[in-house]
Amino acid sequence: MKKLNIVVLFGGCCSEYSVSLMSAYALLNNIDTDKFKPIMIGITKKGQWLHFNDDLNMIIEDTWHTSITNKMVSICANRDQHQFIIVDDLDIKTISFDAVFVMLHGKNGEDGTVQGMLELFNIPFIGCNTLSSALCMDKDKAHKIVRCEGIKVPKSLVFNQYCDHFKIIDSIAVLNYPLFIKPVKGGSSIGITKVNDFSMLSDAINSAFEYDNEIIIEENIKGFEVGCAIMGNDELFVGEVDEIQISDNFFDFNEKYHTQSAITHLPARLDDKKIAEIKSIAKTIYRSLGCSGFARVDMFICDNGEIVFNEVNTIPGFSDHSRFPNMMKAKNIEFKDLITRLIELGVN
Ligand SMILES: Nc1ncnc2c1ncn2[C@@H]1O[C@H](COP(=O)(O)OP(=O)(O)O)[C@@H](O)[C@H]1O
Ligand SMILES: [Mg+2]
Repeated sequence: MKKLNIVVLFGGCCSEYSVSLMSAYALLNNIDTDKFKPIMIGITKKGQWLHFNDDLNMIIEDTWHTSITNKMVSICANRDQHQFIIVDDLDIKTISFDAVFVMLHGKNGEDGTVQGMLELFNIPFIGCNTLSSALCMDKDKAHKIVRCEGIKVPKSLVFNQYCDHFKIIDSIAVLNYPLFIKPVKGGSSIGITKVNDFSMLSDAINSAFEYDNEIIIEENIKGFEVGCAIMGNDELFVGEVDEIQISDNFFDFNEKYHTQSAITHLPARLDDKKIAEIKSIAKTIYRSLGCSGFARVDMFICDNGEIVFNEVNTIPGFSDHSRFPNMMKAKNIEFKDLITRLIELGVN
């Protein structure tokens, strides 16, 4: 059988660039090269697209963009041919491919922007479509849709950049501390502060606005976090549910990528009935937000056992010690098979 040429998009002009490098490195190390030929396209922090064809370690070391073999590429605006164009001195070359695995996290990658471009050019890709990616990236709109399904979400208020700080502070008097102040569209906990009292408000608001033009201020959910890995378009396959045990503050960037004190329990320390309920709610959330391909649905379990929706990550962390691949591995799907199944879901 002919090998499929799969473009792996990595890096990205966003705050989660370094996370993408870890995910792409693992993807490229584990992709089944008997079935697929990966084509590496890196996006620099400044947004330049480069065809990279050098040592994989340069990705994890973040030196890939210095490779002398790199060539600038642009996508061919033709719905019938899936190609990148390379202009090399005066010579024009093309690279043909079959599908794109978008391994970008956060803005300009996971938020529907890249997906929209790919849909426009009729290019098959792995993961959620434009609308679903955009909805899941928007913590406020995702909450509103999921709430319509009768699923609980944190009590929150949303403000845009035009709103006066004093007005924000006045309005949130109806919310109870501690509060979480977050960019509406973001990831990896970047720009998020847990605010314990009034004195921390102003800095937290400013910090969230550094990453987005809208912020969401949520009441703290007392309990713990669980995640549910899902893959599929119509028929859904659900991985093992995991649980994050945090001893201090919250699951911030440091805890996520250089684990300090957070412990991941896989499977979550819950009875079968609760696990079944979590999976069922996660599938409802996945469907209500129009997800396809794969996504990780994150929820809180309150002290009284109630399940509260947090967010959907449409391109969850994908390194070989990340939560999504581990949750699938716990259901006997090895990383290599996981990648194959995801690609098949995207191209079929
Ligand atoms: N309403 C909340 N109640 C309790 N903890 C929260 C709440 N919102 C966020 N957190 C904590 O902050 C972390 C990051 O928030 P999240 O909304 O998942 O943003 P990101 O998209 O950056 O991962 C969560 O994993 C959790 O530890
Ligand atoms: Mg999160």
